[in-house]
Amino acid sequence: MRFYENPQKTSENRERSRAYYIPTGISEFISLNGEWKFAYIENSDLVDENPRFEKINVPSCWQLKGYDNPNYTNINFPFPCDMPYVPNVNPVGIYKKDVEIADLDMKYYLVFEGVSSCAELYVNGKYVGFTQGSHLMSEFDLTKYLTVGENEILVKVYKWCVGSYLEDQDMFRLNGIFRNVYILKRPFGHMRDVNVRTKNNDTITVKTDRYANIRLYDGNTLLGEKHARECEFKLTEPKLWNAECPYLYTLEIEYKGELITQRVGVRDISVSHKNEILVNGKPITIKGVNHHDVHPKNGWCLTDEEIYEDIKRIKDINANSIRTSHYPPSPKFLDYCDELGIYVILEADNETHGFIYRDPTDKYVYDMEENEWPATNPDWLKEHIERAERTYTRDKNHASVIMWSVGNECGYGANIEAMAEYFKAADGTRLVHSESASLLGKKSDNVSVYSRMYPSIDELEKWAKDDSYDQPIFLCEYCLSQGNGAGDIWEYVNLFLKYPKLVGGCIWQWADHGLDRDGEVTYGGDYDGELVNSGAFCCNGVVFNDRSYKAAAHELKAAYLPIRIRREKDEIVVTNHFDFTSLKDYTLKYEIRVDEVSVETDTVKLSIPPRRSLRFKPKRIPNICSYGVNIDVTLISPEGKELGTLSEKLSARVYKKERAKDPISAEYITDSANYITVKSKGFEYRLNKTLGNFDSIKIKGKELLYAPIKIGAYRPLMENDLVMADVYTTKTEARGFNINHTFNNVRKISLKENVITVYGVLAGVSRKPFLSYVLKYTFFKNGRIKTDIHASVVEKAPWLLRFGFEIPLIKDIQSFEYYGLGPYENLPDICHHVREDKFKSNAKNEYVNYVIPQDHGNHMGVKYAELGKELRFEADSSFVLNVSQYSIEQIDRAKHQNELGTPYATHVRIDYKVSGTGSSSCGPWVRECFRITEKDIKFSFNMLPAKPVN
Ligand code: GAL
Ligand code: MG
Repeated sequence: MRFYENPQKTSENRERSRAYYIPTGISEFISLNGEWKFAYIENSDLVDENPRFEKINVPSCWQLKGYDNPNYTNINFPFPCDMPYVPNVNPVGIYKKDVEIADLDMKYYLVFEGVSSCAELYVNGKYVGFTQGSHLMSEFDLTKYLTVGENEILVKVYKWCVGSYLEDQDMFRLNGIFRNVYILKRPFGHMRDVNVRTKNNDTITVKTDRYANIRLYDGNTLLGEKHARECEFKLTEPKLWNAECPYLYTLEIEYKGELITQRVGVRDISVSHKNEILVNGKPITIKGVNHHDVHPKNGWCLTDEEIYEDIKRIKDINANSIRTSHYPPSPKFLDYCDELGIYVILEADNETHGFIYRDPTDKYVYDMEENEWPATNPDWLKEHIERAERTYTRDKNHASVIMWSVGNECGYGANIEAMAEYFKAADGTRLVHSESASLLGKKSDNVSVYSRMYPSIDELEKWAKDDSYDQPIFLCEYCLSQGNGAGDIWEYVNLFLKYPKLVGGCIWQWADHGLDRDGEVTYGGDYDGELVNSGAFCCNGVVFNDRSYKAAAHELKAAYLPIRIRREKDEIVVTNHFDFTSLKDYTLKYEIRVDEVSVETDTVKLSIPPRRSLRFKPKRIPNICSYGVNIDVTLISPEGKELGTLSEKLSARVYKKERAKDPISAEYITDSANYITVKSKGFEYRLNKTLGNFDSIKIKGKELLYAPIKIGAYRPLMENDLVMADVYTTKTEARGFNINHTFNNVRKISLKENVITVYGVLAGVSRKPFLSYVLKYTFFKNGRIKTDIHASVVEKAPWLLRFGFEIPLIKDIQSFEYYGLGPYENLPDICHHVREDKFKSNAKNEYVNYVIPQDHGNHMGVKYAELGKELRFEADSSFVLNVSQYSIEQIDRAKHQNELGTPYATHVRIDYKVSGTGSSSCGPWVRECFRITEKDIKFSFNMLPAKPVN
């Protein structure tokens, strides 16, 4: 056994853990970030006497600096599951840096904030110590190894160690000194740990290990000063901390000329008899995101500024909570959460998911009765407790941390219980989380919440109503935003708001993990040497890797917006869903539109207390329209920032536009062997009898079709549709419906006066028809073609992904206008972020760069659309519009963005409906109500020249 394979001894000479701080005063901070010498050696057993050193910038992950390759794997370990051993051939990165030391009058410590997977430290050729636990802080006393003048720091970082078994998080596996590294120069006999607590919401208690001068400030005002090891400050009129108003006091602790500054939020966490989570006695809703440390170029490395920006962006989508999935973040992260106002569920660096796959003949279950899991094996007890202890000790002083998590997907055995027990005993002031305990039905006094991931809406509501669930119910993960997902965000959040016991959840997840390489985004399988990989499964953020919004981020922002609106008669009821903040200093801006015409815009101020409703009365809510009456309400903060907009359709009578009804007369219609042509002044339509549809549409002599119109039920599969790949496609051996290759078999065509009727069926290759249809085209004098399709779907057919018309237009028709839901793409289960209005766009603009190209750009509820200056579509009800530079086949084939090929046409879809997306790549499938399950479909719309032609 090599020294780094021993679960009982996972460090040597590492300092005892302490709270994170950077001391000032006479102490010095010497950053070691920047250039180091670096040698990468494939086999750490065979390190030359004089390895060849190159240069590397630290912090970094060496796989992104040209050594070795990234490997993205979810559950599978990247090495054999042969605990505690790691592969014999274990690469090592050797880091070297010279540091000038001016004097030895003080103590020197070296601090790593993150090294993966473990580090051996040498100074001037002498061994100092060893540490592992990638995302935990480790500190070494260098004093006795240093000399005045130049000193050589050498760090050997091994790719794998025993700790790698506990770090099987679903992410790119990367290595190196990936967080800040520095030296602290401190006075001899300095204080070590500081413990700050608040109690009764009016007292701050401070405990340290020296008689220090301890000062408490409110801003610049000194509130008190004590000379003590332990003391209390009682506040008169305390200002409390919560995520909505993150008020912080400042403590200064001074000893031997050294100063430690700690910002303190006064707050208290408890659980109510209704199983709500209370902050300062008030119930809160956790509107959270799961956050991994991911950077499109630098992998696990985020600078302090990038972390700050990320948290600000998370606040921008109205979230108030972060689960640090699945390890402690950089220590600075928590300073920012304290400051910006975020509730943190802080997770220990612990995931052993790969054990469920270790035995190929076993069921993939948490077989905790086997002592083969780190969670259950007594040899691993110490290491588990130590990970809990290092997590707690470093971060215990942060107001933002409300709950400790023992880890993710680690099973639940004695060792996990011991972690929970540790957290509970060390810190009775916060909650303890273990999803694995809840999943495995293990109720423990040490675990405070019932936590699960990815229940369906129905399941969640069932739990909410069932009294036997007698803990706060928390979704540590819900709604997985794989590609064009996740569905139902709105519904989940509404359940959180409805049931006291549903305390909220954290969406999976904040950002895509994809790594940029040569202008494209890569994922698992894109790198040499990935023995196991999980494809693009790490690209399920609500934002892309560059933090631009997917529809899910817009949707989340709307769902997390702390208001809801509804109409009651001629009034609008607004509910304040802040937990602490009254809306009295906020402004509600509203606009009422009749069709696309704004008829009233105004602002109102409503002094709504938290969790209460008030109403306002617009001058008039019109009750008649051509398309729709809508209201948008935007919430504006006292600082003038728009927090988000909700849009509601207000019921109104729809006034039907009279259309010119003069039929085109027979003399304009020619019926030949292969074609039926309808030609008049300004237009010429040709229906191809073999295809049963138009192969030519000319307006004012200009051909608009690039290829014939088709009827179809297939969309380029979204990643969430892939669970149905067997059913819909020929991509697998399974006997599916193969509708990715649909044939349209025309049975009969008739022409009667101004009506062409096409009878036909749609069938996948090698399969029976799944749908039969009667399609009627009725021609009018002004060029309008009324399209009516009546489809019957066979009983056994699966729900359809979409149903409608594919209309490939010539490429120079690019821009379009529509009245419907926009401006962002929407689906039945992602549609609360859009409004009904008139929008302008173009084919290119509609493209959404999902890492794996997939269906996108749908706009539901469209009443009319005008493509270029030529062609118009109108419906009495509505249709789903999709305009893309790429064909279904182009999108479906491409596995990366650069594989789409060159646009050659403008592909328009006019669909009856599209099905939703759900979260089926991991969680619940599209809900029944958002699937096209109808067996009898009637769909009508009009196609006509955009401008009058005759
Ligand atoms: C969960 C897991 C996450 C992630 C997600 C899928 O089961 O906790 O780490 O793997 O699934 O993306
Ligand atoms: Mg996992």
